[in-house]
Amino acid sequence: MNKKVLIAPSTHPCPIKELSKYAKELELNGADWLHCDIMDGKFVPDRTFDQLVFAFLKKSTNLYLDVHLMVKEPMKVVDEYAKYGANGITVHYECFNDKISLINALQHIKSLGINAGLSIKPGTDIETIFSVLPYLDLVLIMSVEPGASGQPFIKSSIQKIARLSKKRAETNGKFLIEVDGGVNTTNAQLISISGADVLVSGSVVYNSTNKKETILKLKGISS
Ligand code: DX5
Ligand code: ZN
Repeated sequence: MNKKVLIAPSTHPCPIKELSKYAKELELNGADWLHCDIMDGKFVPDRTFDQLVFAFLKKSTNLYLDVHLMVKEPMKVVDEYAKYGANGITVHYECFNDKISLINALQHIKSLGINAGLSIKPGTDIETIFSVLPYLDLVLIMSVEPGASGQPFIKSSIQKIARLSKKRAETNGKFLIEVDGGVNTTNAQLISISGADVLVSGSVVYNSTNKKETILKLKGISS
């Protein structure tokens, strides 16, 4: 029996000029969300696209736009991403100095009428964010160091996912668990049965010559 899982291919491996075409292709081939990786060259070394490219991308797709802000100062840009059509915005726990500013940020994102997500890097313990779970619609567990596609899945992420899933059940939490980095057709089932609801895929979907079949395989459905 397969648990229902959403597949969120990531924009990161795709060149900017091909983003609209890629989004359309993903929509036609069964992707559920488009995971938009935004990098500022400070929180991570790489830089991706900005708000204006994002606004253009929104016009080319009906997919749910899941914005992952790998930027040092996320609160400087959240209003614009919301204005240009983000359905959910995820910020990094590591960007905040204290719990009050983190809670204010999450409440601000929700006040924009969109879903609020929080991401943790592989080195951050899952227990660190337990006290802010009531403010969240989504937790994004990074299963690679943020910044690049194509890295291998960090196996200890499975314990983190399972621990968070258990905590959610114990507290009757409603947030989704999303996993980002190194997801492939071999490990997707284990990640999903450990508690993930949304699987991000960068390189595996981008490099696939049969995106429909690859997305089905990531969902645990063989064609
Ligand atoms: C990495 C990004 C990911 C990346 C995943 O920092 O957040 O979304 O595109 O790529 P894969 O699936 O290739 O690890
Ligand atoms: Zn991402």
